[in-house]
Amino acid sequence: MPRRSIAKEVETVKQLLDGRSIVLVGLMGAGKSTIGRRLAQKLDLAFVDADAEIEQAAGKSVPDIFRDHGEASFREGERRVIARLLESGPQVLATGGGAFMNEETRNEISRRGIAVWLKADIELLMKRVRRRDNRPLLKADNPEEVMQTLIEQRYPVYGRADIIVESRDVPHSSIVSDVIRALAAYQRARKAAERIA
Ligand code: S3P
Repeated sequence: MPRRSIAKEVETVKQLLDGRSIVLVGLMGAGKSTIGRRLAQKLDLAFVDADAEIEQAAGKSVPDIFRDHGEASFREGERRVIARLLESGPQVLATGGGAFMNEETRNEISRRGIAVWLKADIELLMKRVRRRDNRPLLKADNPEEVMQTLIEQRYPVYGRADIIVESRDVPHSSIVSDVIRALAAYQRARKAAERIA
């Protein structure tokens, strides 16, 4: 069968989304916000960044929340904010790297959204996170070792996402197209399964 055009895949995604959010998950540096913003543009949907919403609700930056209140408090805020944001689909929602590790958050995402894991290797993640100094978990003597540990802890859980897309070091537009094609295929499969059920 010839490859469907991207325009056609965009239409499929929009038609079958039915109020759900497209939720990007994955490690720091995987490109959730960058890809998410472009994906939203392409699908003509709102883009929401969960970390930015948490910062707005708290009136301070993520590093300052970690410093002043600790990680547990950040995680609680993260869970609440994401649950609230998921009520407003359809949209593209980028989550912070730890969000999908929370079981309640995973359940809320599966109820109201489609989880897309942007999977990247450690070289790409490190290349990206080195550009900015805003990740409290990586303020360590050996950030690469921290990242490797996070990969080992989190990848089995991220693997429960509905869709997995490899985030590679290629122009963002290619990754956005990969996500759109994967979403369209996922939704077609879901629709076909509903018909059989
Ligand atoms: C975190 C990732 C960050 C931010 C916080 C904790 C994590 O978001 O939520 O620093 O636990 O992986 P990004 O994944 O957008 O960098």
